Amino acid sequence: MQRVRRRTPQDFDRVLSSMCTVPHPDAQEEAVRFLSANPGDPATYQTVAELEGEAVDLLGKIAGLDRPEGYLASGGTEANIQAVRAARNLAETDAPNIVAPESAHFSLTKAAEVLDVELRTVPVDDGYRANLDAVSAAVDADTVAVIGVAGTTEYGRVDPIPALTEIAHDAGAKMHVDASWGGFLLPFTDHEWSFADAPIDSMAIDPHKCGQAPVPAGGFLARDRETVDALAVDTPYLETTSQATLTGTRSGAGVAGALAAMEALWPAGYRASYRDQQANADYLAGEFSARGIDTVDPVLPLVAASLAPSTFEALREAGWRISRTATGELRIVCMPHVTREALASFLADLDRIRS
Ligand SMILES: Cc1ncc(COP(=O)(O)O)c(C=O)c1O
Repeated sequence: MQRVRRRTPQDFDRVLSSMCTVPHPDAQEEAVRFLSANPGDPATYQTVAELEGEAVDLLGKIAGLDRPEGYLASGGTEANIQAVRAARNLAETDAPNIVAPESAHFSLTKAAEVLDVELRTVPVDDGYRANLDAVSAAVDADTVAVIGVAGTTEYGRVDPIPALTEIAHDAGAKMHVDASWGGFLLPFTDHEWSFADAPIDSMAIDPHKCGQAPVPAGGFLARDRETVDALAVDTPYLETTSQATLTGTRSGAGVAGALAAMEALWPAGYRASYRDQQANADYLAGEFSARGIDTVDPVLPLVAASLAPSTFEALREAGWRISRTATGELRIVCMPHVTREALASFLADLDRIRS
């Protein structure tokens, strides 16, 4: 029999741009055990279906929702698409639109395309948060959802969720919060972002980002059953009779890994992690400023700073995995695997390149 060649996955040492991270070891182990179970057919795969219920309950605790509805999605993209899909399906309009700040993740562009919904993006204010006047001006009778971001992809900002919710509901639209990245950090801050802070309708919150679960583990949460029911289709050939998820067959690894990570880390482990991550971001922002580099204040553990394109390229050539914002700033996400030592080593390379 031919032996399969063992490949070594890339390690995380120099990865400063990713919103994923090294999973908790117990979560990784659990994920492997459930790799082939299919929560897409819960009547057949009952054990993993039970785990999914527990995982959604825990996600609800983290997001301030007592009786959460929802499921473990493939990621924030799917959760965002599903939120728009549910809002569109529940609304009575032939020309649906959604309103989101320009800081919203590009998955909403996909959602709009796939669902044939108009995406209205509106400007952000000086603090990179949704401009409320612009949102108010953009909503109309055909708006099916307003989207706010709790932890933006480029600057880690939190939109004014309660005010956005008011605008959405006044217009008869649903309010969706994209906390895909921020959801496991924000419980330890004073920000208003959750189901407990405003009567929001749905949320994306990803265990495979700051929840330290193995990929793929996204979270789609809804306040009411109606939202999930609006997504359900009949499934004649399965033991289960209907399915609300976007994907069909799903790996049980996402469910089991997410549950294990959350059981291991909520709340003390996540709190400690948030504090370390934020301290690292504050350190990095301080070091950039001390070098005269324009830096965006890290509200959450994400640092954006102006760097000459040649310096950026030289850092990449030195092996650092870094990315840029749409306007060209260096963007560093202080995920749990990004240590103070790694940042010090990055700064040493930066100094060498700039000298
Ligand atoms: C705020 C936000 N929403 C959604 C997504 C998409 O998540 P995924 O890549 O897991 O589909 C991301 C990814 O970085 C994100 O930052």
